[in-house]
Amino acid sequence: MSATAPPLVAPPAPRGEDALTTLTRLTQADLEACNRIILRNMQSDVALIPQVAAHIVSAGGKRLRPLLTLAAARMCGYRGERHATLAACVEFIHTATLLHDDVVDESALRRGQASANALFGNNASVLVGDFLFSRAFQLMVSDGSIEVMRILSDASATIAEGEVLQLITQNDTATTEAQYLAVIEGKTAALFAAAAELGAVVAGRPEPEQARLREFGMALGVAFQLVDDALDYSADQAALGKTVGDDFREGKITLPVLLAFARGRDAERAFWRRTLEGGGQEEGDLAEAQALMQRHGALADTIARARAYGDRALAALAAFPDGAEKRALAAVVDFCIERAR
Ligand code: IPE
Ligand code: IPE
Ligand code: MG
Ligand code: MG
Repeated sequence: MSATAPPLVAPPAPRGEDALTTLTRLTQADLEACNRIILRNMQSDVALIPQVAAHIVSAGGKRLRPLLTLAAARMCGYRGERHATLAACVEFIHTATLLHDDVVDESALRRGQASANALFGNNASVLVGDFLFSRAFQLMVSDGSIEVMRILSDASATIAEGEVLQLITQNDTATTEAQYLAVIEGKTAALFAAAAELGAVVAGRPEPEQARLREFGMALGVAFQLVDDALDYSADQAALGKTVGDDFREGKITLPVLLAFARGRDAERAFWRRTLEGGGQEEGDLAEAQALMQRHGALADTIARARAYGDRALAALAAFPDGAEKRALAAVVDFCIERAR
């Protein structure tokens, strides 16, 4: 990779550039190194592996989690090259969970394209997902830090717990907000937390700074998933790159549902029970669900909740010295919440 460190003061962002683009630009050389590690390590003599992996990797994705690792490391004064490998580990874990998640959720669309399961089948998706998880662990071993291995293996186990916890709350309208929060902290926020924490760890910063970045990632991850759960009912499908209404069809108990259910009259609750608890959905049910959420402010309040977590993320960043990376990370918090607009 290029040894050129990013400038300490970012050039002014071109007009209209969003925060994700700014963060990408700021970490450009590091992100390119990370992408090269990703491409190199998804190779295998078993041709189906690079085929499936290339399908999902070349479809893009925001690279949000590896960007957190790269920017946090630079914010913490790191000037080496290990962070690119760690960022690739993080993205491999994320990609593996997407391959598995789309099988579990029976999703047909991912990153604006046919999902891997739709194209190659469930078996190939599960097995290549396993391969990518394993590659992530090989990369960690090559890095050699037990601390890094602890953080990423803990995150992997927590993601799996979150997905399983979600499986057992699915189709159950008695699910509580606390259970829902535990699901999203596990399936999504744990990897954001690990990704950010690694920045401080690789830079050799003291534990309080590691904890602050972990907290930053955790709060950002919860905010991100809250917004994603609102978007599942309200997004423009082409912009989202995923099928709108997947959560409803699958009976996922997300915050928009919990709020609309809690605020609904008896007839409305009967609607939610029929549609979400496996009683069969009919034409027009998704539109009705969207209308009920609108009536009860369930989507707006989900975004408001995300905003509160976003504020926590910003508070966790506050103690770090000002600089281009810190400003870009702070702006990404807003970006993650504003994408709901
Ligand atoms: C998708 O994450 C999975 C969720 C946690 C909702 P992203 O929206 O970050 O996915 P990509 O990597 O950009 O496609
Ligand atoms: C996101 O799960 C978290 C993981 C992939 C582990 P979701 O099922 O909520 O996310 P999308 O909507 O498929 O991206
Ligand atoms: Mg899914
Ligand atoms: Mg899922």
